[in-house]
Amino acid sequence: QETHPNDAPPVLVEFEDGIAWVTLNRPHKRNAINPGIVYSMLKTMEDLETDDRCKVLVLTGAGDAFSAGMDLREYFRGTDNNPKERVKLFRANGQWQWRMLRHYSKPTIAMVNGWCFGGAFTPLVSCDLAIAAEEAQFGLSEINWGIIPAGVVSRAVAQLVREREAMYYVMTGEKFDGKRAAQIGLVNEAVPLAQLRDRVRELAKVLMAKNPTVLRTAKIAHRIASEMTWEQAADYLMAKVDQSTFQDPENGRNTAMGQFLDEKTFKPGLETYRR
Ligand code: ACO
Repeated sequence: QETHPNDAPPVLVEFEDGIAWVTLNRPHKRNAINPGIVYSMLKTMEDLETDDRCKVLVLTGAGDAFSAGMDLREYFRGTDNNPKERVKLFRANGQWQWRMLRHYSKPTIAMVNGWCFGGAFTPLVSCDLAIAAEEAQFGLSEINWGIIPAGVVSRAVAQLVREREAMYYVMTGEKFDGKRAAQIGLVNEAVPLAQLRDRVRELAKVLMAKNPTVLRTAKIAHRIASEMTWEQAADYLMAKVDQSTFQDPENGRNTAMGQFLDEKTFKPGLETYRR
């Protein structure tokens, strides 16, 4: 199925000091998400979840695109007459793009280096954090070619973007740049493309300095609690705080309290405790 020149793998993984740079690798097709990328991303994410070389996962794209969305030829037209393959493929895609990514046990950062359209919004929103190049171009282009933002794109956008902006881009399909993406809450910040990788590396280092057990619980608890009532969330979060303390091999909470209250060698308002 894979139509790559030179048998290049559809997804590249490079390890660098705890960061796993995961790169969608079909630059000649603007990293449009085809079956090759879908099945490869699923496998990559399963592998990285238990790989100690990955402490932070960064998702990005090769060349001048993050991803031009779903591959119209291979993902849509290619399965129009093959309902069995479509069920399998669409499920596998939902699996990596949000079911796994939203509750991934490692911190995740989307590094949006260029074009980002349609279906690419789902993994973008599902990553915990996102940094874009100011030059990157985003668009909910579905309306431009006669479909609606489906998969789970409309739901994902509604999670982060204010209703007026979300409706505007859903209905007009107009493209917008990285600065605008930051203004509307779709990404954390936008930096010049030349500084993008350094900024993401710096952010990854901040995350890697934290207690990983507590960081994992904090991000998953935040996602789940945000969809609960206050009463449910209060009870759930108190159970989660006890769970993370019980599971934490570093005993971070007590170590940090000792450093602050007894030794007076660290201030939690200003830094991370010494691990
Ligand atoms: N699906 C299939 N093929 C694609 C896709 C895609 N989403 N995006 C790009 N390609 C292919 C092109 O067909 C072209 O293939 P070819 O070389 O065999 O002709 C190749 O990638 C390069 O694309 P160009 O259009 O030549 O590149 P350019 O840099 O001029 O434009 C742009 C880039 C703006 C991203 C353009 O390719 C584009 O509009 N792509 C579609 C974006 C989109 O709307 N995606 C779907 C969103 S909806 C959804 O995901 C459900």
